[in-house]
Amino acid sequence: MTDLHGRFRNIIAPVIEFAYKTEIVEGKGSWVTDTHGKRYLDFACGIATSNMGHRPDSVLAAAQAQLNKLWHAGGAFLYEPIVTAAEKIVEITPDGIDKVLFMNSGAEAVEASVKLARKVSGRQGIITFRGGFHGRTMGSVTYTTSKAKYRQGYHPLLPSTFVTPFPHPFGWGMTQEEANDYALRELEFKFEFEVTPEEIAAFLVEPMQGEGGYYPASHAFIHELRSIADTHGILLIVDEVQTGFGRTGDWFTSQVYDLRPDILVMGKAIANGLPLSAVGASAEVFDAWPSGSHGTTFGGNPVSCAASAANVDAIREILPGVQHLSDHAFSRWNEIKEEHHIVGDVRGLGLMIGIELVTEGNEPDTEAFTSIGGYAHEAGMFILRCGPSGNVIRFIPPLNVSQDDLDTGIDILHDAIRAYEAR
Ligand SMILES: Cc1ncc(COP(=O)(O)O)c(C=O)c1O
Repeated sequence: MTDLHGRFRNIIAPVIEFAYKTEIVEGKGSWVTDTHGKRYLDFACGIATSNMGHRPDSVLAAAQAQLNKLWHAGGAFLYEPIVTAAEKIVEITPDGIDKVLFMNSGAEAVEASVKLARKVSGRQGIITFRGGFHGRTMGSVTYTTSKAKYRQGYHPLLPSTFVTPFPHPFGWGMTQEEANDYALRELEFKFEFEVTPEEIAAFLVEPMQGEGGYYPASHAFIHELRSIADTHGILLIVDEVQTGFGRTGDWFTSQVYDLRPDILVMGKAIANGLPLSAVGASAEVFDAWPSGSHGTTFGGNPVSCAASAANVDAIREILPGVQHLSDHAFSRWNEIKEEHHIVGDVRGLGLMIGIELVTEGNEPDTEAFTSIGGYAHEAGMFILRCGPSGNVIRFIPPLNVSQDDLDTGIDILHDAIRAYEAR
């Protein structure tokens, strides 16, 4: 145990845990370096946040320039970066998103989106989807059902929240169509037995579940939700905190699915790691929210906004290449799946790929991730897990990773899989 780790243990609330104990002192691009000078490929990306890798030049320069001018406003006066960042975000968001509200974290933006939906609809009910992750604050954890542990001991949570299944074809042993049908039938039952659609302000949904196991919603399911929402005057809140800013091959997964969200929630990669989140909606929806009925001290921080504007420009340059890297990664992972039984499923969109590890009996293999993650770490790579059993590799390299580094990452994980099978 390093001295720093001992100090960390003594002074930081133990509720906070890091996936790896390694002390990192520097990061650049796809790589980070520890105190001994060992380099690691960082395919954790701060949980799909440093989409442009560590310290991309133009984002760094924009943040530094802003630091030298003004770094906090706190709602007292106007500053240019908040407007420029919002204009850039509106340019890249799906049609119908005209205005932006900046917050600090994904959870805070989720809660703001729910407050907005309740206020403008005059309804209270929120329908969320099992396996979803929307944050850990008291309100947002109400909507988080990716693991019971995240909710345990915190009840009562917010009332008038209804949870319905999200299609998990692999986990349920179904085709995508069967899983969609099952999930939609359960939603119908919600309306028949538990709550009328007229009482529902919003559906809150990830277009691809992140923490819940990297399950894409599918075009058919998400469009059916859109249509049910339209029929009953329900707002569709699409949580793209993890899937946004190029991660799934377009700016947002909503565009991959040609989906029109009423409210779009953004965070994580919005400023490539500087704290910032946002809610987007139409002018009509936002203008119905009375001035002063929501607010923030730090949200829309000048440095984060300057970084975000530069980050959007930087992603624009590399976005056309993401699909090529994605096709390459999928084809390699599908080959590995053919070779190894423990790779039960390879799924996802763009460079958000879930590799589900299973036992001989096709049960979730949690130990496999522990072993593979440990092997990868020894070999010089950071990787994270997801899914309720922690048996899904989150394969989320930076979007500007070189093809060589992408292959190095896949090679390390392939070796780790071989080593686990040979144990
Ligand atoms: C889809 C989604 N929504 C919301 C959040 C919460 O974001 P934060 O941790 O910034 O509060 C996360 C975090 O992982 C997320 O993946």
